[in-house]
Amino acid sequence: MMSLPQKIAALISVLFFSACIGACGADSTATLDSSTFDGNEESRPKTYQDLVVGFSQIGAESDWRTGNTVSILEEAERLGVELIFSDAQQEQENQIKAIRTFIAQQVDVIGVSPVVETGWESVFQEAKDAGIPIIVVDRRAQVDEDLYAVRLGSDFVEEGRRAAREMVRLLDGRGNIMELVGTIDSAPANDRYLGFREILEDYPEMVIIVSVSADFTRAKGKEVMEDYLKEYGDQIDGLFAHNDDMAIGAIQAIEEYDLVPGEDIKIVSIDAIRDAFQAMIDGKLNVTVECNPLLGPQFFEVALKVVNGEQVAKFIPSIEGVYYPADAEEIIQTRRY
Ligand code: AHR
Repeated sequence: MMSLPQKIAALISVLFFSACIGACGADSTATLDSSTFDGNEESRPKTYQDLVVGFSQIGAESDWRTGNTVSILEEAERLGVELIFSDAQQEQENQIKAIRTFIAQQVDVIGVSPVVETGWESVFQEAKDAGIPIIVVDRRAQVDEDLYAVRLGSDFVEEGRRAAREMVRLLDGRGNIMELVGTIDSAPANDRYLGFREILEDYPEMVIIVSVSADFTRAKGKEVMEDYLKEYGDQIDGLFAHNDDMAIGAIQAIEEYDLVPGEDIKIVSIDAIRDAFQAMIDGKLNVTVECNPLLGPQFFEVALKVVNGEQVAKFIPSIEGVYYPADAEEIIQTRRY
């Protein structure tokens, strides 16, 4: 069986090198209204096989991101969409370059998951001037709403609130909390930070004693946790990690420090990746709040609508849940990321 990175590599090579791109076994008429076609090729609504889509992905910092990439690549292949996929390796500069390249290539629509919130006005304006709609996927960009067509993804503030409610329950409304924040200036880090605090306002005995970024990665989660355990040791009652990968890295550090994750330190994190379910089965993680990365199907459906001038909502939120150890054994079988 192929690992996720192998699967991604295989899918990318199929998408870039396959001669039958844009014509293979696709669901071509999903949103096509042929009654409006007047015989003029110019006004014929586009089908999935006509679409050329540029997608600028952030990178591969977490299992969530890998799941998101696979969802987009698989759906493009299934529909026969021509996808030009670019991995920015966590650099905004690379995303801006990729968007400029897509504009020069005159793609029909651009999808982007912005690594950070700020600094997008100019390049989004360039796309708008070129008549190419932008769909913001997953993370928000802080720009005027008229610079993009639609954003689809999670309500990150609500995820932060959900995590806080679970932490209040686990600590009985009283305790010291360490927070592992995601990438600085990214929408999920900013919003989860705010949502978490909004709920804690009503619990003055819940105190955040450390709040520090570990960039959404497992390696940094472990490294940062090691550092702060040295300083705070057993004073930490709860850990809120902005994603599961950082929580899993921190769990390793907690075990190496000879404390019991999930017991000595209660842990709540976000994403609901498969490894988080395993950590709950092992008793090391107390709760995972879902953030759904499987956005491929929604993305291409919306892309086709936007290109054909159909009305779409400005924000399309994902539907997400909260998961606990008691159900982890059963649910892990069904997780796709
Ligand atoms: O933008 C979504 C966040 O980005 C996920 O929570 C995190 O795991 C990812 O890297």
